[in-house]
Amino acid sequence: MKLLILGGTQFVGRHIVEAALAAGHEVSLFHRGQTNPDLFPEAEHLYGDREADLSPLADRRWDAVIDTSGYTPGPVRRSAEALKGRVGQYVFISTVSVYDDPPSGADESAPLQRIDPAEASTSDSYGGLKVLCEEVVQDIYPRDHLIIRPGIVAGPHDPTDRFTYWVRRIHQSGEVLAPERRDQPVQVIDARDLAAWLVRLIERGETGVFNATGPAEPLTLEEMLTAIKRGLRTEATLTWVDAEFLTRHGVSMGELPFWTLGQVWGAFQIDSSRAQAHGLTYRPLAETARDTLAWVLERPPTHKWRAGLRDDQHAELLSLWHARG
Ligand SMILES: NC(=O)c1ccc[n+]([C@@H]2O[C@H](COP(=O)([O-])OP(=O)(O)OC[C@H]3O[C@@H](n4cnc5c(N)ncnc54)[C@H](OP(=O)(O)O)[C@@H]3O)[C@@H](O)[C@H]2O)c1
Repeated sequence: MKLLILGGTQFVGRHIVEAALAAGHEVSLFHRGQTNPDLFPEAEHLYGDREADLSPLADRRWDAVIDTSGYTPGPVRRSAEALKGRVGQYVFISTVSVYDDPPSGADESAPLQRIDPAEASTSDSYGGLKVLCEEVVQDIYPRDHLIIRPGIVAGPHDPTDRFTYWVRRIHQSGEVLAPERRDQPVQVIDARDLAAWLVRLIERGETGVFNATGPAEPLTLEEMLTAIKRGLRTEATLTWVDAEFLTRHGVSMGELPFWTLGQVWGAFQIDSSRAQAHGLTYRPLAETARDTLAWVLERPPTHKWRAGLRDDQHAELLSLWHARG
């Protein structure tokens, strides 16, 4: 098949390109040439800024376009309209953040966020803007849309450092501060499982909307961290610290990836059974941890971490925890 990716050189898109090339497809990437510009010499690269100029896409045909870089409805509308009649299918990578305070077990029909587009900002309105993007795609491709809503994605090249934070901490061995509640549900999907499944869906011409979280069985925070330990074969000790202590010491939810402070558990209990019934499978989390570590160890030591506690903060919190009366 001939596939066009709007993006494709960072993380989720990058793994989709790898999976598509591995499956023998002809791949064109449209991007600005800023992010990892030397990747995929074997693919065709079309250079442009989707916010400004789509002319490199003119007069071309593809079996499917995969839009991994759409965050706001304006540019998504422009690319969807520009490609109308010249692509068999418009695939849009959305997110589970589209759901409005999802109940436990939310499937694809759960209520979506509603925002006022005039007041939306890309930093605060990620999920609401993705809803508007999805609607644009469904409007322009009423039958030929494929919308994928992943939960947290993990694996090599993840720029968010969320799962990666825990891999690094646990790899350092010694004591690891873990936030209660340990029975909190979590969901995470390996980018390579997501990518390979998506390519199979496109090959079969599947359409519609799919949640894409993992793993197949419910997972707690404790089970996730234990699976990472198993994958890395470390002797790290998890020290479970209660949420009240952490908030009292100024630790916010965003600083400890996957921690929900006992709230919004539904966001980690999304139902992906439709995706599983359509062939989504998962590698063991321990393997994701091992491969993520191999990639982390190749990164420059100057890497600026995007998530998690700093080493000094982590050590100080642990000593305060042990010294508490
Ligand atoms: N990470 C997660 O846990 C997670 C969870 C749920 C959903 N998602 C979704 O997954 C997608 C993120 O994937 P990714 O960033 O890893 O995708 P990617 O396709 O691997 O990387 C983003 C691509 O977009 C290109 N790009 C950025 N701005 C552009 C512009 N103005 N014009 C043309 N190209 C542009 C970048 O290249 P240049 O910079 O060279 O232009 C890069 O190739 C998003 O849609 C996100 O909502 C992610």
